[in-house]
Amino acid sequence: MRKARASGYLPGILLLLSTVITGCFGLEVSAIEGPSVVMNGSQSQLVLDCKYDFTDEYEKNGLVVKWYFKRKPFPVYQWIPPNKPQVLGILKGRLNLDYEVSADEFSKHRALAIVNPTTELSGEYTCWISTFDSEHVERKMLTIYAPPSEMTLTYYKPRMDTVAVTCRAGGVYPAPDIVIFRSSPSVRKNVIEGAKMERRVVPGRGFYNISIELEAFDYDLDAENMFECVLTIPRHRIQNAEGDPLLPRASYYYYHHHHHNNNNNNSSSSHHYHHHHPLCSF
Ligand SMILES: *[C@@H]1O[C@H](CO)[C@@H](O)[C@H](O)[C@H]1NC(C)=O
Ligand SMILES: *[C@@H]1O[C@H](CO)[C@@H](O)[C@H](O)[C@H]1NC(C)=O
Ligand SMILES: *[C@@H]1O[C@H](CO)[C@@H](O)[C@H](O)[C@H]1NC(C)=O
Ligand SMILES: *[C@@H]1O[C@H](CO)[C@@H](O)[C@H](O)[C@H]1NC(C)=O
Repeated sequence: MRKARASGYLPGILLLLSTVITGCFGLEVSAIEGPSVVMNGSQSQLVLDCKYDFTDEYEKNGLVVKWYFKRKPFPVYQWIPPNKPQVLGILKGRLNLDYEVSADEFSKHRALAIVNPTTELSGEYTCWISTFDSEHVERKMLTIYAPPSEMTLTYYKPRMDTVAVTCRAGGVYPAPDIVIFRSSPSVRKNVIEGAKMERRVVPGRGFYNISIELEAFDYDLDAENMFECVLTIPRHRIQNAEGDPLLPRASYYYYHHHHHNNNNNNSSSSHHYHHHHPLCSF
């Protein structure tokens, strides 16, 4: 008797449970969709979409969409349907407010459509979606990087038996790193120790200039050497689909001859990089 009654209640309990579950998840928010790394000046519009779905019409009540930048307390974007979205702070004047990510009246303005994204808009974006019943937060890191606007590799002979190699790059964002590799027919690519690296933020411009300088004795080198300067942006995986860095390299061949070394003056070779060819190496 009791057994029969219990199983009779089961569908009722399941129904109740499923109501509770859909009530909790009446608004389903998924991760922010959009690119993570883009090159400065390469896109006319970049969309970060805080995707959500209503599984319950009731959730549309009291819907508020807010976006925050770098975890600052004030939103940079706020949309309360059916009103027009409001743009504040760093995003002011940077969004395409005509952009609609969907036709739905309660979804169309949830995404940020950033026009001509530039380096200063790099950082963590947070979208905050709330309704009368629930609240959701999603975060995404966006890096808008700038490859160097110039990169040069030069050398000179400070002494008859040494060579000094300097590599400079300017206009890079975010903070880059730089190394000089040496290779020769008998030595595989290796980093020369003791190089002096200098990196600074260019005041008021928000980008970095970086240089590295090393000096080597000719007798530590082979007769034929290749110096290669490689710029990286650590902590951000800035590379193309094949895994090659999207940043330029500069290389230089140095030959020396122990016996008739008449180089008592400076010579130099410089390579200029123009960032229209992000994959070129030279
Ligand atoms: C980024 O691009 C903008 C315009 O597209 C340009 O004005 C700015 O100098 C660039 N920034 C860097 C660091 O290259
Ligand atoms: C570094 O920054 C200055 C601006 O202060 C600029 O004139 C210079 O050309 C930049 N580049 C390099 C490689 O030093
Ligand atoms: C550098 O050396 C070359 C030949 O060794 C010579 O012709 C040239 O005048 C020198 N340049 C300077 C600036 O001393
Ligand atoms: C070569 O140039 C560097 C600076 O670029 C200077 O310090 C050095 O004294 C010069 N050497 C000669 C031999 O002129």
